[in-house]
Amino acid sequence: MLILGIDTSCDDTAASVVEDGVRIISNIVSSQSDIHTKYGGIVPELASRRHIEMIWPVVDEALKSADIKLEDLSAIAVCHGPGLIGSLLVGCSFAKALCFSKNIPLVAVNHLEGHVFSAFLEEPRPEFPFISLVASGGHTSLYRVDGFGRYTELGRTRDDAAGEAYDKVSKLLGLGYPGGPVIDNLAEDGNPEAIDFPRAYLPESFDFSFSGVKTAVLHYVRAKERSQNTEHRTQNTAPPAHPSPSRGEGKGGGESPGSNLWALGSEMLNDIAASFQACVIDVLVRKTEWAIRKEGIRRVTLSGGVSANSELRRRMKKMGEGREVEIFIPSVSLCTDNAAMIAAAGFHYFNAGRFAGMDLNPKAYLPL
Ligand code: KG4
Ligand code: ZN
Repeated sequence: MLILGIDTSCDDTAASVVEDGVRIISNIVSSQSDIHTKYGGIVPELASRRHIEMIWPVVDEALKSADIKLEDLSAIAVCHGPGLIGSLLVGCSFAKALCFSKNIPLVAVNHLEGHVFSAFLEEPRPEFPFISLVASGGHTSLYRVDGFGRYTELGRTRDDAAGEAYDKVSKLLGLGYPGGPVIDNLAEDGNPEAIDFPRAYLPESFDFSFSGVKTAVLHYVRAKERSQNTEHRTQNTAPPAHPSPSRGEGKGGGESPGSNLWALGSEMLNDIAASFQACVIDVLVRKTEWAIRKEGIRRVTLSGGVSANSELRRRMKKMGEGREVEIFIPSVSLCTDNAAMIAAAGFHYFNAGRFAGMDLNPKAYLPL
């Protein structure tokens, strides 16, 4: 059974053909980060416009590289939320039109459910039940998953998502968007214990909070800049050259401290990145460990853009080895937004006969 998945929930236009919910035949993602990087974050109107331009070429390429025609599809699975409403609207309208004109069944998939099902696209596949940590730019949630449609949310972020914190810290450091990969790289050469940023463990809760660490980074950077400015004024010396961040070149910084990055020096930047990252990862790993203990489940899946992070992958695997817990982490291209995960979850909707009608409307807010 071949299902075409479509996802336009945020800033990637994605289409994929998946067989029987598990085998990827084609997987095409057109990224928009070139448009948004200079703004230090996603500009929703620009995202929608680019989706309109790219949706047909991306779907066409997914069908061509799978070497199939629309008539070969059993169904089209489209992500209908949560996400940016204008972006979602493009994918939903396109999928509905295609299904209507070619008489193809339509199923609607929750984006977060898609992330959970990305674990089934590679070997080895998890058995139910499992704990699922979804950490992306828009969400950070821990679920207990007992089967298709049987999700219990154990906790979620109370403010910023983990990826959002990466993106905001990157913006304030003048490193552009998306922040995750840049900070991941910088952290490789930094000392995670250099700066003691706060970790919000929120005892007795599986909820997360990442806005405090982001603000702590901002205060730290401002204080450093002030003290270095004073030092140069009193010594009457010129400030050192800009350390040239690897991406964004400070364009996303605007009035943020990123525009005064010269004050920090590249070694300091590495330490800030590593220390910030350590905070986020400590909390993600610790809460996942708690969930394993409380639910008595020894299988964990990781998904969402933040699970592309090299240190999080290392730490989660190490935790699994120590506790004899099976850890399932998809390849990086399946952690970040893609449509194969939408087709994988869509397969189960099709089997359950849960079809969507032409009245399907996207929803910006759509809890799992
Ligand atoms: O799942 P995703 O592609 O889109 C959403 O559903 O939000 O996640 C995007 C997020 C961004 O915030 C990005 O900075 C973050 O994932 N990200 C990373 C890494 N790669 C992407 N965060 C940390 N380390 C990475 N290597
Ligand atoms: Zn996502």
